[in-house]
Amino acid sequence: MGETSAHALSPGETRRTARRYSSRAFRSAVSNERESNDVAIRADGIYKVFGRRPKEAAKRLADGADRNAVAGLGTAAVIDATFDVTVGEIFVVMGLSGSGKSTLIRMLNGLLEPTAGSVEVFGTEVAGVSEAALRDVRRKRVSMVFQHFALLPHRTVMDNAAYGLEVQGVPVAERRERAQRVLERVGLAGWEDKFPGQLSGGMQQRVGLARALAADTDILLMDEAFSALDPLIRREMQEQLVELQRELGKTIVFITHDLNEAMFLGDRIAVMRDGRIVQLGTPDDILTDPANDYVAQFVQDVDRARVLTAAGVMEPARSVVSATAGPRAALRTMRDLQTSAVFVVGNGRKLLGVVHDTDALKLVKRGHKDLMPIVRTDASTVTGEQHLVDLFEPSAESPLPVAVVDDAGRLLGAIPRVTLLAALGNVTSSAITSELAVVGPAPTVPVDVMTETLRETAVLSDEPDAAIEGTHA
Ligand SMILES: Nc1ncnc2c1ncn2[C@@H]1O[C@H](COP(=O)(O)OP(=O)(O)OP(=O)(O)O)[C@@H](O)[C@H]1O
Ligand SMILES: [Mg+2]
Repeated sequence: MGETSAHALSPGETRRTARRYSSRAFRSAVSNERESNDVAIRADGIYKVFGRRPKEAAKRLADGADRNAVAGLGTAAVIDATFDVTVGEIFVVMGLSGSGKSTLIRMLNGLLEPTAGSVEVFGTEVAGVSEAALRDVRRKRVSMVFQHFALLPHRTVMDNAAYGLEVQGVPVAERRERAQRVLERVGLAGWEDKFPGQLSGGMQQRVGLARALAADTDILLMDEAFSALDPLIRREMQEQLVELQRELGKTIVFITHDLNEAMFLGDRIAVMRDGRIVQLGTPDDILTDPANDYVAQFVQDVDRARVLTAAGVMEPARSVVSATAGPRAALRTMRDLQTSAVFVVGNGRKLLGVVHDTDALKLVKRGHKDLMPIVRTDASTVTGEQHLVDLFEPSAESPLPVAVVDDAGRLLGAIPRVTLLAALGNVTSSAITSELAVVGPAPTVPVDVMTETLRETAVLSDEPDAAIEGTHA
């Protein structure tokens, strides 16, 4: 049976691909509809100076003094930060160590009081308000996930997850029920009675996340929440966070110094340097249009081939037929898409191999119905996590797009050479997508020969056209 869906990406993958290829257009469409009540957090000219005379330092900075010039008065950790975080977005703050990220995020829930400026959470001022008012904000509006989990070692997973609710005085039955729900949501069902020490780092961080989610606040602040995790777990947590965000519609402020993580998670990214936000934009903006030399260096120092992943740059695989579709469907797809080869997929969109136009033509002429004998199994494949640097060899070996598959061998997307080169060469994604016709090598069989063959053999075939896969959109 031919599959109906053109590409079966996981939510994380879909989001990642969508981000890379339609983010700008989509976001500007969305932002046009946004109104002021869609603002979750508004920071307006906030400063934080640590030291002897912070107010004076902030004033001098506001008057244009350099950070170093006020060093005698204190350490300017955050200087004149102004930004809005929109409801439902993942807002990433990225920067080198000491650039002021933690200080900034701590001012958003009142853990630190700004030296100057204003912070509003859903329209309510947070800067300089009473401890009681802040408790209310933290209880209802903002919860936080820390880098080192900050779990209570002598309490069970359940009690850790329910801790915030306990502090709020939520009755025991209700808090256990709520904690149970979020523990299940983060994949910890069955672990309720264990202690943190019995869990791996990744699982402990899930408890930290569950604790923040149990409070059911609209905003999550996450300071390097995944930095202590090993890379595979980290990637998994990132994908789960994106899923959670989509499902629950949380507004998330996420701090990282990892460019790849920032690019993956961020709807928008604020890049900080020496206390200042030096660029605020979409991942595409940051990577392709850095605001200044610092940002350019930040993204350039990192080798694009080692930062960008296959899943991050892949296109939907267009030239695809189902194994059951038959040689005519394969030939027709190649003719329509003007390529010399198609990917062949089986059940669950598992990649079986590649069929070439010359082989398909012969089969069609002979009236054969089975595609399998001509499926070549030498298609170049990579997984979504692999970096572009891993694509050079497979891309050079074959003129076909490199197939991106998941662990089960399912086809997720394809990377034509033009896409690989564009990604490496820092060409904007819109320039790539407008060239989408270039999905593979040009046909080796003339189009009219294909068409004529299909027409001539049409009576021999009982294959419904519906069996043809691949999108032409
Ligand atoms: N409580 C404090 N007292 C004095 N100086 C501080 C304090 N907290 C932070 N700073 C200083 O403020 C600056 C910004 O620190 P911050 O912790 O916000 O940076 P960061 O970007 O989070 O760094 P990292 O990536 O290492 O976590 C640094 O120079 C730091 O030394
Ligand atoms: Mg920090």
